[in-house]
Amino acid sequence: MQKAHQVAMLGTGLIGMFYTMSLHGQRGRDRVAVVYSRQQERAEAFAKTWDVPKATDSLAAAVQDPEIDTVVIGLPNFRHIEAIEMAAAAGKAILCTKPLGRTAAEARHMLDVVEKAGVFHGYLEDLAYTPKTLKALASVQAGALGDVTWARSRETHPGPHSAWFWDKEQAGGGAIIDLGCHCVEIIRNYMGKNNRPVEAMCWADTLVHPIPAEDNAIALIRFESGAIGQFEVSWTFRGGMDLRDEVAGTAGTIWTNHFLRTGFEMFTAASGGYVAEKAESETGWLFPVGDEVHELGYPHMFTDMFEAMDSGRQPMETFYDGYIVNAVLDACFKSAKTRKWEPINLADWRAPEPAKRITVAPRLVDGMAVVKEERMHGNRLKVMLCDRESGHITERIIEIDE
Ligand SMILES: NC(=O)c1ccc[n+]([C@@H]2O[C@H](COP(=O)([O-])OP(=O)(O)OC[C@H]3O[C@@H](n4cnc5c(N)ncnc54)[C@H](O)[C@@H]3O)[C@@H](O)[C@H]2O)c1
Repeated sequence: MQKAHQVAMLGTGLIGMFYTMSLHGQRGRDRVAVVYSRQQERAEAFAKTWDVPKATDSLAAAVQDPEIDTVVIGLPNFRHIEAIEMAAAAGKAILCTKPLGRTAAEARHMLDVVEKAGVFHGYLEDLAYTPKTLKALASVQAGALGDVTWARSRETHPGPHSAWFWDKEQAGGGAIIDLGCHCVEIIRNYMGKNNRPVEAMCWADTLVHPIPAEDNAIALIRFESGAIGQFEVSWTFRGGMDLRDEVAGTAGTIWTNHFLRTGFEMFTAASGGYVAEKAESETGWLFPVGDEVHELGYPHMFTDMFEAMDSGRQPMETFYDGYIVNAVLDACFKSAKTRKWEPINLADWRAPEPAKRITVAPRLVDGMAVVKEERMHGNRLKVMLCDRESGHITERIIEIDE
């Protein structure tokens, strides 16, 4: 029998709204039963808009409400810990937004708290659940790309919408912690979760905004299999929100664009109001998003979370994943300072065995390994061959009879 869950929504900001919109949309049976905000009037206004029966300015009252079984945390990064500790003590299932912690130490503490309390925990990394990502992941896992060699994830926009994001202490960093957390988890999913991230190299700088935190960064993450992850994040990109991923493997390639180019293009000389999150213009050529919550993965994410809860399995994204993400980001921050590759410190790594190195057994021709074949103009096939003892490369041209 399918259960209906009663949720305490902590936070009435952007993510509290998106989460509630996702839960209450499409005649969903899981409902927000109580909403918490620091100010009672804001909680009540949110409750009225989203048809939530109870509103409170007490975190404890929301989390301990006897009618709710699940706490969804949509508070600023520095308030995740207290909410998790309180919800775990109340024995509730806990779903926490990204990034789990500001550092791996914080995230590991949170993981420890939920595991000791024995409560269900889910890491709300929506971008691992976008419809395109789920389909792409299924193809990768079915072997369509062969061994993954490279995964690139990009999230860039003109900067966040609330003061606390820009405060390095409260957020735990700048664009790396805010956007890099999404990219790392997308990359990890493509690499395979048991493929250990080993070391990271990162460039970060504050190019535009008057803040101490970084507003741009690029990082490389080397995985145990030999594959490389690459992320690009920016709080200074003009033109909206750019969410693109690429995965390459020994047998294929996938490119996805989740937001800025979804196949919906519109021109207006007037103004139609809100276009999409972080859109910078409401006139001229626009790139609206048909169903934002779906494009961003929220409904699939909550479906996985609640179905996992009901069937006693783990969801695709847990606090353990959130902890690994924070550990990768810690190494990125360190590397940006030292300008060197830095090891990713994972005191708690749970893969049952090491990941296999990328290996493709070459085809042999006369004892030599085929490096590559290419069909040329005319009926000619060029075959490049490597003598594996000397490393010497030669080519042969084969005329094709057609
Ligand atoms: N795609 C995503 O998964 C996604 C997108 C946006 C934000 N987030 C995450 O959600 C969390 C909240 O982000 P948001 O965009 O909703 O932020 P926001 O600023 O829009 O809203 C923050 C909410 O927390 C409340 N709050 C409680 N204590 C606060 C304090 N001391 N200072 C400021 N606000 C306080 C605010 O009143 C507000 O209701 C963050 O952890 C953020 O990283 C996730």
